[in-house]
Amino acid sequence: MSPSQIFFILLFLLFHFHHSSSFSLSVENLEQDIIVSPKRIFTAGFYPVGENAYSFAIWFTQKHKHLNNATIVWMANRDQPVNGKKSTLSLLKTGNLILTDAAQSIVWSTNTASSKPLQLSLRDTGNLILQERNNSNSIILWQSFDFPTDTLLPQQTLTRFTKLISSRSQTNYSSGFYKLFFDNDNILRLLYEGPKVSSVYWPDPWTTSNGAAGSGSRSTYNSSRIASLDSFGSFTSSDSFVFTTSDYGTLLQRRLTLDHDGNVRVYSRKGEEQSWFVSGQFRQQPCFIHGVCGPNSTCSNDPLTGRKCSCLPGYVWINDQDGSQGCKPNFELSCSNKSRDASQFLALDHVDFYGYDYGFYVNKTYKECEELCVDLCDCVGFQYTFTVDYGGVYWCYPKIQLLNGHRSQSFLGSFYLRLPKRSDFVDEIRIQENGVGMVCSTNRVEKLEREYLKKKENGSLKFMLWFAGGLGGVELLGFFLVWCFLFRSSKNSNEDNNGYVLAAATGFRRFNYSELKQATKGFSQEIGCGAGGKVYKGVLSDNRIAAIKRLHEAHHGESESEFLAEVNIIGRLNHMNLIGMWGYCAEGKHRLLVYEYMEKGTLADNLSSNELDWGKRYNIALGTAKGLAYLHEECLEWVLHCDIKPQNILVDSDYQPKVADFGLSKLLNRDDLNNSNFSRIRGTRGYMAPEWVFNSQITSKVDVYSYGVVVLEMITGKSPTTGIQIKDGEELCHERLVTWVREKRRKGIEVGCWVEQIVDPALGSNYDVKKMETLANVALDCVVEEKDIRPTMSQVVERLLSHDEHNS
Ligand SMILES: *[C@@H]1O[C@H](CO)[C@@H](O)[C@H](O)[C@H]1NC(C)=O
Ligand SMILES: *[C@@H]1O[C@H](CO)[C@@H](O)[C@H](O)[C@H]1NC(C)=O
Ligand SMILES: *[C@@H]1O[C@H](CO)[C@@H](O)[C@H](O)[C@H]1NC(C)=O
Ligand SMILES: *[C@@H]1O[C@H](CO)[C@@H](O)[C@H](O)[C@H]1NC(C)=O
Ligand SMILES: *[C@@H]1O[C@H](CO)[C@@H](O)[C@H](O)[C@H]1NC(C)=O
Ligand SMILES: *[C@@H]1O[C@H](CO)[C@@H](O)[C@H](O)[C@H]1NC(C)=O
Ligand SMILES: *[C@@H]1O[C@H](CO)[C@@H](O)[C@H](O)[C@H]1NC(C)=O
Repeated sequence: MSPSQIFFILLFLLFHFHHSSSFSLSVENLEQDIIVSPKRIFTAGFYPVGENAYSFAIWFTQKHKHLNNATIVWMANRDQPVNGKKSTLSLLKTGNLILTDAAQSIVWSTNTASSKPLQLSLRDTGNLILQERNNSNSIILWQSFDFPTDTLLPQQTLTRFTKLISSRSQTNYSSGFYKLFFDNDNILRLLYEGPKVSSVYWPDPWTTSNGAAGSGSRSTYNSSRIASLDSFGSFTSSDSFVFTTSDYGTLLQRRLTLDHDGNVRVYSRKGEEQSWFVSGQFRQQPCFIHGVCGPNSTCSNDPLTGRKCSCLPGYVWINDQDGSQGCKPNFELSCSNKSRDASQFLALDHVDFYGYDYGFYVNKTYKECEELCVDLCDCVGFQYTFTVDYGGVYWCYPKIQLLNGHRSQSFLGSFYLRLPKRSDFVDEIRIQENGVGMVCSTNRVEKLEREYLKKKENGSLKFMLWFAGGLGGVELLGFFLVWCFLFRSSKNSNEDNNGYVLAAATGFRRFNYSELKQATKGFSQEIGCGAGGKVYKGVLSDNRIAAIKRLHEAHHGESESEFLAEVNIIGRLNHMNLIGMWGYCAEGKHRLLVYEYMEKGTLADNLSSNELDWGKRYNIALGTAKGLAYLHEECLEWVLHCDIKPQNILVDSDYQPKVADFGLSKLLNRDDLNNSNFSRIRGTRGYMAPEWVFNSQITSKVDVYSYGVVVLEMITGKSPTTGIQIKDGEELCHERLVTWVREKRRKGIEVGCWVEQIVDPALGSNYDVKKMETLANVALDCVVEEKDIRPTMSQVVERLLSHDEHNS
């Protein structure tokens, strides 16, 4: 034994007796006094959380000694940091692990007791464990996995006793306003618990299985209340919520974190050297997270700058540094003088508020709705929204508070804000409106594009994983979809009532097979044949004309409930440029879908019969882009259509396009899997993106490509499936539509008249050359081979709309 070793032991004994603790870490020694897991994956120690403020924490071990941006996964004392002098973490001989501040007051402890020798160790899972020093059969007295803060690690379980609480901000680790927890009804929920109001923002009340709408996506019946993330990237919860990351199947470092902005994200990385990327998140639309923008303000989301809060016209910030505190009225309207003559209403398009409806009224005129609001002292405005797909009536909701507002181009309704009637007021407001807004601090993170279930690799593990991933995706889809597409009715807290209102108001329902057989006169009038089955015209018992799609008969093993779950989801897609679904039938082997019927048929029919002048074509291009943008981006970036073509775009009596057959690739996927036949989801020759052919990653950009081809077809009148006949010298050869147009542009761009050379001769010269050029350029950008260069559908919409604005 060397002298130095003896010295060390003496020192240890002295220390031991002096502190009557068996082990201690000091804040003053924070670079050495750390606990590192065996494989160095995690480190525990004191972490600086502010000026002279430290918390005892666990983080992913990092190379840099600088403890300023480590990835923290747990904290002992997040809400009560300790001083940078004299604070210690000590394991007492009584068996209690305590954290003391400079003044020796106990800030945090494990409240454990044991007379046996104990040991504190950090596992490679990130779990800090206090256990009896007994190798054979040691008892765990305490473990950090039982007390999560904002992060759940693989192998850690969220239980009925635990919850995740977000941190306050990106730099402030104390408890914030968002919680992920199991509610009394066994459902895993996200709650915003702000200083003044609180509300659940995920899942939506109507996604639980016992609601009348019966979307069947969450179950209240399993009371085990556990959820966990596995190392492959799948999060499962006992309420049957399944969430699969985009990189599912690979062993990576992973963590699931309830971020300070209220979203739950799963992050992954290869190792210490790499930075984290987001491989999945619970909510796609940041503005649908509650509490982002405070009362009397609206949230809007810009893909580039992030989400932004704006005060309503006539309102001013309560704290202009913090949008979450909201706005207060800059006027007075007391009950005594809120008479009919004292109020006026300002229309705000595309604005929607969550909850606090005084009531829900169907088929009111605007005047009636306004009067409802005027007569109610507390009414601060009303939502008045036309429902195209559901009976073509207006819905009216007077509001008594304006919370969780959001503004989004795809929300087609308007909000009418109550303001005092002063002649100059609205003008003042208009001036104010220009250029105010507050960009919330956003945590910009690199995002992976969602993979889409695509190709079978026979028998391999990869296939199994993708299969599982695909199903997870479908389920997950449900949660996002429902949020976006359901109606506004379910906005107060009474779940059962809302489910009922929903079912009644939408008319979406289940049909009997015999009923549909009768409606179609025994499936006699076939009007089309698309993916998955034939389409028949039928007249329902209430005299509505419907298009009834009869899917290929169900395969063995396909459960009705799975079909129903998905149909319920598709049925709720609600956008004026998507075809409306009225219901479905699932009886024995029969699977049918009931859609609204479009008198004017498909875009393909209309193009071939030369029905479409330039204006109509432009509107169809714009409307189709809006419908697809809604599918891709507004809520669910991974609802891909996968088969955009003129046959799948229907035209209503006003020549507005409605995209049909969306969501079907999802429905058919499972059949295909069982069938070992993937060919059907690959779209249609001529419209297919190169990714399908080259077997690369399938993202929403496949639809962008197909859209581009459809637009080129509308412009040129030439079909991409037949090829272009051109005279090249003496030879006649076929060339692809895309390359043909691209070449025309390349050659004609100097001359400045390339558009004229490609336009459908049937249009003559009756079109706007500038607009046509924009449209053709957008279409060519959509059909670029490299998918990352193609615009997104919402960028397409923006470009087409901005052209309209500049020219009007
Ligand atoms: C974090 O936020 C809390 C609550 O607002 C505040 O009390 C605390 O001082 C903040 N901590 C730091 C380090 O800024
Ligand atoms: C950590 O912070 C340092 C200095 O503030 C910075 O240079 C470094 O890039 C940061 N690392 C990461 C991974 O953010
Ligand atoms: C370890 O624990 C077991 C059961 O608690 C006990 O029977 C055994 O004696 C302990 N061994 C030691 C070395 O303390
Ligand atoms: C409840 O959920 C747990 C965890 O997901 C699962 O293991 C268990 O089988 C479920 N119980 C029932 C009755 O479905
Ligand atoms: C929002 O505006 C209403 C009146 O329009 C007002 O009563 C309420 O106090 C405002 N909310 C806040 C947080 O100021
Ligand atoms: C309404 O009454 C309040 C005080 O009760 C007054 O300040 C305000 O100017 C009145 N508004 C109108 C439009 O008369
Ligand atoms: C809506 O109300 C008007 C007049 O009150 C009535 O004529 C019309 O039939 C109603 N529409 C529906 C779909 O109920």
